[in-house]
Amino acid sequence: MTAQVIDGKAFAARVREQVAAHVARLREENGIQPGLAVVLVGEDPASQVYVRNKGTQTHDAGMASFEHKLPADTSETDLLALVRALNADPAVHGILVQLPLPKHLNAELIINTIDPAKDVDGFHISNVGLLGTGQKSMVPCTPLGCLMMLRDHHGSLAGMNAVVVGRSNIVGKPMAQLLLGDSCTVTIAHSRTRDLAAVCRGADILVAAVGRAEMITGDMVKPGATVIDVGINRIERDGKIRLVGDVDYASAAAVAGAITPVPGGVGPMTIACLLANTLTACCRANGLPEPEGLTA
Ligand code: GUN
Repeated sequence: MTAQVIDGKAFAARVREQVAAHVARLREENGIQPGLAVVLVGEDPASQVYVRNKGTQTHDAGMASFEHKLPADTSETDLLALVRALNADPAVHGILVQLPLPKHLNAELIINTIDPAKDVDGFHISNVGLLGTGQKSMVPCTPLGCLMMLRDHHGSLAGMNAVVVGRSNIVGKPMAQLLLGDSCTVTIAHSRTRDLAAVCRGADILVAAVGRAEMITGDMVKPGATVIDVGINRIERDGKIRLVGDVDYASAAAVAGAITPVPGGVGPMTIACLLANTLTACCRANGLPEPEGLTA
C-alpha cells in the first residue's frame, strides 16, 4: 500500500480563507476587527521567523497584528505589566507570548497571567483544565490542526484506537484529550513505554510528537493506519541540512493508509489554527456565534 498524502499546506490555506471570510463579515456587519498581540523577548532566530510569519498571516487574514519585541534582559515585572496591559486592551482578542523565554523569566507565571479568554495558545492552566474536563476552552494550535485534518480525512473518529507518542503539555497531552473528546480509545506512549512498536501497531490513528528524527518506522505502523507527524527536526544527510519529521516517511508511507509529510503537513496548520483561535476569541468576547469547523 502507498499511503494517501494529507496535504497540510493546502488544508491550512483553506482554513486561512475561511478565517479571512469570517473576519471580513465581522468587520462589515459588526464593525469589529479581531486583533492578535504577539510578544517576543530576545533575539532567538527561529522565534523571529515564527513571529514574522504570524504577523504576515494575521495581516493577510484581515486582522490587526500587534507585535511587541522586547530586549533579552527585559525584567519579569516589565513583561507582566505588558501582559496585563494587553489583557485590558479591547482591541486585542488574542495574546501569544513566544516560547522559549529567556531563562530568568518564569514562563509559567507569565502564561498564567494572560487572560484565559485571550490565551490563543491554550497554555493557561484554566484552559488546560477546561479541555481536560471537556468544557469549552482555547485549544493549543498544533493539536487543533491535527484534529481538523483527522476529522476531514475520516469524518467521525469514534471508536478508533489512537496512540499519541509524546507527552508534552503543548502537543501530546492536549492531543490525547482532543482525541478522547472525539470518542477515540486513546493511549499516550513515551520514551519509557515498553515495546513501543507493539503499542504503535495497535493504532488506527498514530500521532508522533516526540521530537526525535525518524523514530517511528514502518514496522511500527498498522497497515492502513493514519499517521500524523508533528515532528520538525533538522538533520544533516548527504552533506545537506534537511527537515524531517518524527516518522521515517518512506517506510511508514509504504504501510500507512494516510500520512502527513514533513514539511507541508502539520507545520502550516499551526499558524492557521492560531488565526482560527484569535477569531474564536473575538467572537466569544463579543457574544457572537463562533466560526463553524474551526474549533474543537
Ligand atoms: N514557540 C514555538 N511554537 C510556539 C507556539 O505555538 N506558541 C508559543 N507561544 N511559542 C512557540
